[in-house]
Amino acid sequence: MGKMIIIASGKGGTGKTTVTSHVGAALASKGRLTAVVDADAGFRNLDIALGLESNIVYDYSDFINDRVAFDDILVKSSDLENLYFVAAPQSEQTTDFDEERTELFWQSLKNRFDFVLADAPAGMGDGFMFAAKYADEAIIVSLAETASLRDADRVIAELEELGVEMVRLILNRINPELIEQKILMNVDDCMDVLSIPLLGIVPEDRSVTVSMTSGAPLMAAESFGAGMAFSNIADRLLGNQVPVMNFDKAGKRGIWERIKGLFSAN
Ligand SMILES: Nc1ncnc2c1ncn2[C@@H]1O[C@H](COP(=O)(O)OP(=O)(O)O)[C@@H](O)[C@H]1O
Ligand SMILES: [Mg+2]
Repeated sequence: MGKMIIIASGKGGTGKTTVTSHVGAALASKGRLTAVVDADAGFRNLDIALGLESNIVYDYSDFINDRVAFDDILVKSSDLENLYFVAAPQSEQTTDFDEERTELFWQSLKNRFDFVLADAPAGMGDGFMFAAKYADEAIIVSLAETASLRDADRVIAELEELGVEMVRLILNRINPELIEQKILMNVDDCMDVLSIPLLGIVPEDRSVTVSMTSGAPLMAAESFGAGMAFSNIADRLLGNQVPVMNFDKAGKRGIWERIKGLFSAN
């Protein structure tokens, strides 16, 4: 039985779709059968991030409303053997779904895959609930800013209310220069605001934008920058102990050395 992990945030634009696609790809490349699900119906864009927008025939509303078989909604990645994508409906509301069929949908995914990652919309609306109610774990994606962290706090409370057992944090778009200039908060101060464990930090990295808009290749470079961060996060999800920054393996040593200096000294 696989694990269903919701990727959520308080504010929009923190990097949920980026995290879902890249961590999904990293898990698949490490040999785990992985499904990434677009739970952001209406504003779907995970298909573009994965370069699969022209491969979609059916979405999960077709299965939940009993129009097609479960296998028909699985879209296989053209880049990675173990990666599958499940599209969101463009028009149908998740609130109209039958509860038993919705449960069967998530259960079928968990029966088939090792990991099911659900890319949620920002906040705690219908799309969030559609996935959150069935999540085993959650990843909160936040920027290192007070507003982003404060909104994340409300989502964390809701997830705990729903009984999600493990809720962990990814701080995204960490930029050493902006932290030095006190435009962004340092990692320790972010951790003080939220009382959940840190799953990883992802640096601001131009190659993320490039891969998100081109769809492929999905972070082939795992030796530095965001690619390495996503690979490390996948390792931690697999239960491996990976230091938050693996300086030995960091190719772009400069940025990681500077990030190291951004934790409080003691
Ligand atoms: N670590 C990063 N470095 C650079 N750009 C990033 C990073 N993470 C996300 N982005 C960019 O930020 C924008 C919003 O990311 P996205 O994943 O779509 O956010 P969300 O799904 O939370 O709304 C995208 O243009 C994406 O390419
Ligand atoms: Mg998104």
